[in-house]
Amino acid sequence: MMSGGPLLVARELRKSYGPTPALDGAEFSVRTGEVVAVMGPSGSGKSTLLHCLAGIVTPDSGTVTYDGRGLSAMPDAERSALRRTEFGFIFQFGQLVPELTCVENVALPLRLTGVKRREAERTALHWMDRLEVADLGPKRPGEVSGGQGQRVAVARSLVTSPRVIFADEPTGALDSFNGERVMTLLTEAARSSNTAVVLVTHEVRVAAYSDREVVVRDGKARDMTLERTK
Ligand SMILES: Nc1ncnc2c1ncn2[C@@H]1O[C@H](COP(=O)(O)OP(=O)(O)O)[C@@H](O)[C@H]1O
Ligand SMILES: [Mg+2]
Repeated sequence: MMSGGPLLVARELRKSYGPTPALDGAEFSVRTGEVVAVMGPSGSGKSTLLHCLAGIVTPDSGTVTYDGRGLSAMPDAERSALRRTEFGFIFQFGQLVPELTCVENVALPLRLTGVKRREAERTALHWMDRLEVADLGPKRPGEVSGGQGQRVAVARSLVTSPRVIFADEPTGALDSFNGERVMTLLTEAARSSNTAVVLVTHEVRVAAYSDREVVVRDGKARDMTLERTK
């Protein structure tokens, strides 16, 4: 699939927690297969934007449209199903289930959609191989390094072949060597499967990984790529 029109579009998003707005008229869009880096100071509204885009948080006003469908208008069950099947998530600290092995963690999103264990683990191992952590399959998260754990988390985000991956500072807890490795493997895997990535990051070499950079400041999002080409 070529990257065509916007896959996910946010218009005029506003969201307040108490008196101070977390989002104050944010605009955002991402196309199929596009990697968009979201940057900005701490507390500027990056995570809130990500959560609104993914349908985890409902904005006070404004719209999020995924593949032509409004997220707020969708029944809860439909929105949850969308999150399970079409979206993938990566967080700052892998948030792997400590009681499960690494391969079971990666297979989990498939198991939750009803895929049988053998098939789910076969697909999981394919993605673990892509992320160069296939040998960690039988280990538990507590037995692997931070960088390895994040690569397992990236494999888990890809296992359902989602159309969008939301990554909130996925390398924030890693040293620069491991951070760069995770960024490279994540963006290569996403590009090869034409998966869009909305990537909140502080990585300095972010332009090397992303197609476009958006800066969030005081709850407003601004496309830096457009600014630069003006
Ligand atoms: N669940 C919440 N309850 C109260 N305030 C929140 C909550 N989530 C975010 N905020 C506030 O909204 C603002 C934006 O937060 P956030 O989106 O997490 O920023 P960022 O990810 O850029 O650091 C901050 O002032 C933060 O304190
Ligand atoms: Mg945040």
